[in-house]
Amino acid sequence: MGENLPFVIITHDLPSEWIASLENRCQKVTGRAGEPGFSPELLERLPEAEGLFTLLTDRVDESILTRAPKLRVVSNMAVGVDNIDLQTCTRHGIPVGNTPGVLTEGTADLTMAILLAAARRLPEASADAREGRWTTWSPTGWLGADLNGATLGIIGMGKIGRAVATRALGFGMRLIYTDVSPRPEVDAETGARFVTLANLLSQSDFVSVHVPLTPETRSLIDEAALKQMKKSAILVNAARGPIVDSQALYHALVEGQIAAAALDVTDPEPLPPTHPLYSLSNCLIVPHIGSATRGTRRRMAELACHNLLAGLDGLPLPHCVNLVVYTQKP
Ligand code: GLV
Repeated sequence: MGENLPFVIITHDLPSEWIASLENRCQKVTGRAGEPGFSPELLERLPEAEGLFTLLTDRVDESILTRAPKLRVVSNMAVGVDNIDLQTCTRHGIPVGNTPGVLTEGTADLTMAILLAAARRLPEASADAREGRWTTWSPTGWLGADLNGATLGIIGMGKIGRAVATRALGFGMRLIYTDVSPRPEVDAETGARFVTLANLLSQSDFVSVHVPLTPETRSLIDEAALKQMKKSAILVNAARGPIVDSQALYHALVEGQIAAAALDVTDPEPLPPTHPLYSLSNCLIVPHIGSATRGTRRRMAELACHNLLAGLDGLPLPHCVNLVVYTQKP
């Protein structure tokens, strides 16, 4: 019976309970966890593949699609789809699914966690305590930045940006925002005021990035942008690494153009241990863990399975990022 089921490649091993809905619905081969991309063994199976279940570490482009002539759906277990060449998938008539919504709260929590950690210098303070430099209660020791009354500039008022804004209100922050396309003057849900990117950069005490990575947003935060920020400002990026120019950020942090950065994402990723950004005490880096809660990751996998199964059944994906694939002429 199994032989008639569609064949699916899952690029990396996942807990079986997260992908339980695939049971008896497809035949599958799974790649090893812990290594990015398609393993040589998986590449060899591409000619059979009718469905692909990918992670954000896996590039899906022409070189993959030409080897997979039977492919009918790509399901990415992430909200961001910058690892996938959407135009090429569309040209091949392949719908691409992503996992919006289910990771909004988890990613917003992590954004606030690293924002707070950078504001209150938690990594330095924790290291000092652990390594014997906590000799007394010091009135001037480990001084950080206040959130209450500070201005948070949100770049990208999508689901995650808005969830961060909502949390920031609870900390007494003033909100402004900008986006790549024009938006309401005042965001109805949070009261955040729309400003230009230049105004956001010059007025914010904290700048938090929440736009997707596109050609338009690549290096949005470059040397010129960093120069427009306050010297006391803290930059937070939990979106995609290449939105911030790593080299320009390094220089801005060393030269005191901005006070600190908190990064959940980097360019490149993973950031090699020898990268100079790690040498800076005012740069907090965590390994792309925005959605890393047990519940969130499970919901992402489940949603990715729904997209995959819909595609295999020839039905519209619950969350499709290249809807034009359904209306384009063959
Ligand atoms: C995580 O970064 C995602 O895009 O889901």
